[in-house]
Amino acid sequence: MSEKFPLIKVKPPGPKARAFLKRDTKYISPSSARAYPLVVRRASGTMVEDVDGNHYLDFTAGVAVTGTGHCHPEVVRAVREQAGELLHMSGADFFNPLQIELAERLDKICPGPSPKRVFFSNSGAESVESAIKLVRYHTGRPYIIAFVGAFHGRTMGALSLNASRPIHRKGFSPLVPGVIHVPYAYCYRCPYGETHPREELACIRWIAEELFKSYVPPEEVAAVFVEPIQGEGGYIVPPRAFLKDLSALCKKYGILLVADEVQSGMGRTGKMLAVEHSGVKPDVICLAKGMASGLPLGATIASQEIMGWPPGSHASTFGGNPVSCRAALATLELLKGGLMDNASKMGDYLLKGLRGLYKDHPIIGDVRGKGLMIGIELVKDRETKERASKERDKIVRRAFEKGLLLLGCGRNSIRFAPPLIITRKEADTALTVLEEVLGEVER
Ligand SMILES: Cc1ncc(COP(=O)(O)O)c(C=O)c1O
Repeated sequence: MSEKFPLIKVKPPGPKARAFLKRDTKYISPSSARAYPLVVRRASGTMVEDVDGNHYLDFTAGVAVTGTGHCHPEVVRAVREQAGELLHMSGADFFNPLQIELAERLDKICPGPSPKRVFFSNSGAESVESAIKLVRYHTGRPYIIAFVGAFHGRTMGALSLNASRPIHRKGFSPLVPGVIHVPYAYCYRCPYGETHPREELACIRWIAEELFKSYVPPEEVAAVFVEPIQGEGGYIVPPRAFLKDLSALCKKYGILLVADEVQSGMGRTGKMLAVEHSGVKPDVICLAKGMASGLPLGATIASQEIMGWPPGSHASTFGGNPVSCRAALATLELLKGGLMDNASKMGDYLLKGLRGLYKDHPIIGDVRGKGLMIGIELVKDRETKERASKERDKIVRRAFEKGLLLLGCGRNSIRFAPPLIITRKEADTALTVLEEVLGEVER
């Protein structure tokens, strides 16, 4: 890597990137919405290099995946070793020692009664899809509650739980029936017009007093699916009472609480799972993204009692393949060996820096986060909270051109989800670039 970092040698997209973009348009499905024209050649740690030789500081971690940093040597070593031993021998039909070892580790890591069982898949959507089937199977109940602003994936079941962008659903209906959406604890824009802190959360009260008393019999609800911190919806951190009260309400009616930790899990918030900050023990946990530092792996985790479905009821050919499992075991070692602590420490540092920017930049309406899952919400006016969506897009684009990789989330927020290995110097660099860009856009 060069001395100067980030380093933009050619204004992106450079000539090589442009040539790839042309071929991409011709051959790749246009359904993915790319934030900016970054064409990646290689990456290491917090650095991403594009095909024209530009070096970027990655504050996206490949969408909260490479928590250990890109191509961490320990992970690469484990992957190389495993690739020479066994690439595949489907867990759907045969037994796999690495799956068993990883499941034992996950049992210890995840809150809730031991021993737990794990269903391995390949992605976040699949881990949620598996959870949808599991909660219906276990309870025999038809309904599922999900939240406005939620994102759980793109397969039909997971998609049916989504409520963060209409484009996700447009043209794909009818979706899976029986899903009811209720407002999330988005306190910056409380849908009930309330301000916090207060004793009782309106969003929980509404489920208990309106939903359950007007049209949904609670004894027919199989599960509530919740992101402990909403990700794609805008990096929204609910008050601590939210998950506690939700869990208590679920318990009252025998409803399972499913924590979708696909984005918030694997040490990103400074604890292995974000739900741990609330002390709540979910009945089912969905993991993916950061689990295997970039290799595809999903996991749905529940108690033995809940995961009691019979052989043949659910399976996956590739799910939990040996190379991904080895990468996950190496990832867990690294997280426990200091990265989770670094996420906590650097998260506080970055949050403080962003709060500093808040003072001087009225376009920042809200700063929120836990560990290295941090968001800022941009507004045209702090009083009216009018969303600064176009400005958000401009800021993300300009940051890219200056060598800082960021991603938007929600309608007008920016997420900071760097690899958990970041240093103070890198946090300072990100803050400096951001400040420059905020100044440009505010002018
Ligand atoms: C909370 C959450 N659940 C599920 C998913 C879907 O994961 P994948 O894209 O691996 O299917 C995502 C992806 O962003 C997510 O953030």
